[in-house]
Amino acid sequence: MLVSELETPAVVVDLDVMERNLSRMTEYCRRQGIALRPHTKSHKIPDLARRQIESGAIGITVAKIGEAEVMLDSGITDILIAYPLVGRGKATRVAELAERADITVSLDSLEAARTISEQVTARNVKVGILAELDVGFGRCGVANEKELLMLAEQISVLPGLEFRGLMFFPGQFVVGPTERSALLGDVNDLLGRTQEAFERAGWPLATVSGGSTPTAYDAHKFLGVNEVRPGMYIFNDRNMAGIGVAGVEDCALSVIVTVVSNSVAGRVIVDGGSKTFSSDRYLAGDRCGFGLVKEDPDAELETLSEEHGHLNIRDSMHRYRIGERLSVIPNHVCSTVNMHDEIYGVRGERVETVWSVAGRGKVR
Ligand SMILES: Cc1ncc(COP(=O)(O)O)c(C=O)c1O
Repeated sequence: MLVSELETPAVVVDLDVMERNLSRMTEYCRRQGIALRPHTKSHKIPDLARRQIESGAIGITVAKIGEAEVMLDSGITDILIAYPLVGRGKATRVAELAERADITVSLDSLEAARTISEQVTARNVKVGILAELDVGFGRCGVANEKELLMLAEQISVLPGLEFRGLMFFPGQFVVGPTERSALLGDVNDLLGRTQEAFERAGWPLATVSGGSTPTAYDAHKFLGVNEVRPGMYIFNDRNMAGIGVAGVEDCALSVIVTVVSNSVAGRVIVDGGSKTFSSDRYLAGDRCGFGLVKEDPDAELETLSEEHGHLNIRDSMHRYRIGERLSVIPNHVCSTVNMHDEIYGVRGERVETVWSVAGRGKVR
């Protein structure tokens, strides 16, 4: 099948670009001696997770148990669930997964740890634990080295749990290169103090898991980091290009849409709205627009109705025709993929692969 024959809206991945993104990250991590544990929330496709492992990743990261179940069913056996799992139901499912694979969970509370401990002990299995440290994003994670050491001590005496180290997510680094460099000092102060505190306690941290796509190629600058969990790097998106961690030419994924109306002056309508692109903002720039139209960067995908994308073409010289197809790089690739049952791997004009987004909707 040819790309031009796909019904739109259609999410396509340029395989040459994706393969280049994968090799670049693998090569960087190999050179730096840092373990790569990609976050598969960005694609949710077992085949791509297996490719990441075949090309050198030590295992994968997921956010949800449902995603872990999908990945495990496809034969992946080293999984970090980087999300605080709370409640007995989730702890039971984690224990079931641990009967079949090496499972690590990150958490920041004794309550979460206790419930998991009870369930894994009942099944006579073990789960690894990474204690989460907040390095300034202000989402999850304990605040400082003292709290982390205390949590680690409490975890280490709970049966069925194996304390494996610390994890952090530097989500505040979705900014330009100068701001990213400025943020590094504070994060390193905290990481340095934390590692010293554990060493003084005679308990060096085996794993220091950091990183995201914006910080991945700077992972060697973060004190003690020996594992990274980038997700978006496989495809990249408009936000990643906007903060300069990727070029537009490194964006492997785009959404092909068709012009379905040009009746209103200064505007055309394409057949993808918020149910195609998600409504994620352009965080890296002026917060305007929902994607970059490759054929016409002067057009702005200004507003999204559910099924209509409103293109403002007032500044554009392009003459739009009904039925014309456009390729749009979405603002945020992870939430865009999550909107689709299938995405297509293409090489040039040829559709080479159709992937089912098997982890989509697995929000529990
Ligand atoms: C805990 C955690 N690790 C890793 C990642 C991957 O980071 P990125 O999406 O920047 O590639 C995320 C993304 O949300 C995350 O929440």
